[in-house]
Amino acid sequence: MGLYQFLKFLHILAVVFMAAPLYNLIVVNERVRFGKAHLQVDQYFENIIRGNSTRCYIFQLTALVTGLLLVGLGGSWLSLFTNWVLLAKLLLLLVLMGLLSVVHFSIQPRIDRLLSRADGETIPQPIAAEIAPLRLRRKRLASVCLFLVIITVLLGLQVFSAFWAPLTVVLVVLAALFAWRVYKTPVPYGWA
Ligand code: HEM
Repeated sequence: MGLYQFLKFLHILAVVFMAAPLYNLIVVNERVRFGKAHLQVDQYFENIIRGNSTRCYIFQLTALVTGLLLVGLGGSWLSLFTNWVLLAKLLLLLVLMGLLSVVHFSIQPRIDRLLSRADGETIPQPIAAEIAPLRLRRKRLASVCLFLVIITVLLGLQVFSAFWAPLTVVLVVLAALFAWRVYKTPVPYGWA
């Protein structure tokens, strides 16, 4: 059915665009490499990160709505409860929205408030010292989000037929290693 195929296309596109945690972590690692910089560099950097969380909500909502419509059109809403993969995907998406909300409604406004108190060439040391732990928490949450997005993609591919179980286990471990790697280093070559 054309509508189902269209929704599936939109579902996958939204999922691809949900790569924000990966690119945010890359940007954050670049900011660290940049070192001490003019206040405007930090304002520019925070503008990018802040904007990404709003965009990510939209893509998450698109994945949610298209996913639910696919379930409805594909058969019955009941399969949300009888197919554990679908239920897990739904719950993981809600967790991702929750984590994004922690960043968007708690961590980010606190960073923004601190940054708005800064003036002069660079962020004054006392303000920088308050911002640092908030940025670290945001970075940790981003790597958890990256891991969960990869796991949800892995589940998405197994909605109707499961992979060979040991392969799924290996892929989960590789997903965790990759999320850890992106948390730690700027990954100039994509995977490494
Ligand atoms: C982070 C959130 C999500 C991600 C990363 C994700 C990812 C994916 C991926 C990669 C596929 C594979 C499509 C294919 O086999 O060609 C898929 C399919 C599917 N997803 Fe999701 N998904 C997410 C959320 C949801 C939600 C919330 C639902 C509904 C509860 C849902 C329902 C479905 C259905 C029914 C399919 C099967 C489509 C088909 O093959 O006919 N997804 N998803």
